[in-house]
Amino acid sequence: MRDYYIAGNWKMHLTRREAADLAGALVKGLKGGKHRYLVAPGFTLLETVAPIVKGSGIRLGAQNAAAEEQGAHTGEVSVLQLKDLGVETVILGHSERRHTYLEDDGLINRKVKLALKHGFEVILCVGELLEERQAGRAETVCESQTVKGLEGVNAADLDRVVIAYEPVWAIGTGKTATPEDANAMHGWIRRVIGKLYGSAPAEGIIIQYGGSVKPENAAQLMAGEHIDGALVGGASLKAETFLPIARFG
Ligand code: PGA
Repeated sequence: MRDYYIAGNWKMHLTRREAADLAGALVKGLKGGKHRYLVAPGFTLLETVAPIVKGSGIRLGAQNAAAEEQGAHTGEVSVLQLKDLGVETVILGHSERRHTYLEDDGLINRKVKLALKHGFEVILCVGELLEERQAGRAETVCESQTVKGLEGVNAADLDRVVIAYEPVWAIGTGKTATPEDANAMHGWIRRVIGKLYGSAPAEGIIIQYGGSVKPENAAQLMAGEHIDGALVGGASLKAETFLPIARFG
């Protein structure tokens, strides 16, 4: 049985005071919660949030990391610096990184391998654009992003990999994939993992859904056989909306 894993991606929101208040409310609200949880605050908030979530069962995640360990990389943040702050998980390949900051599969793959080498859990995001879905290419796009993102990752490290399927057209738009379409894509991605690593890793890997997850649609999405949790953006910024999602079921 796979655990449900609910993650909040705070993106470029919140000040330290607001982040501390939100983290405190989540720790309180998720005490004894039955699923796995994560929050991914912006880099400048990590040091504030780390002591609040420590020991609570809510993991601390970062939204990105550099592809290099250290060096002359102005504006980048390395896995060594993240580890130093108590970060355990890194979100990589988010569609905003792919499409706004033009990160390609090769770069994302280097980040994935470096983060795994340093003991992090990785949430690898994949997802198609609206025009790719309309052209009937959603599956091949997600397959290609999954295969290329995981190139060179060995089976022993796969238990520290989570996939987040986030159709780009559903992110921050209020549009959600239907539970049927989302579940079908999750099943497809699971088969891709099966082709790469075999059936046991494919059965075990957690595949989150992301894209306008809200309290009103969370349980319906999570009822899908292959949907093992959520990567939540907008609705993760308030305890009133994140807690009902995180406590679903
Ligand atoms: P959203 O973002 O929930 O605001 O659509 C999801 C994400 O980008 O991870």
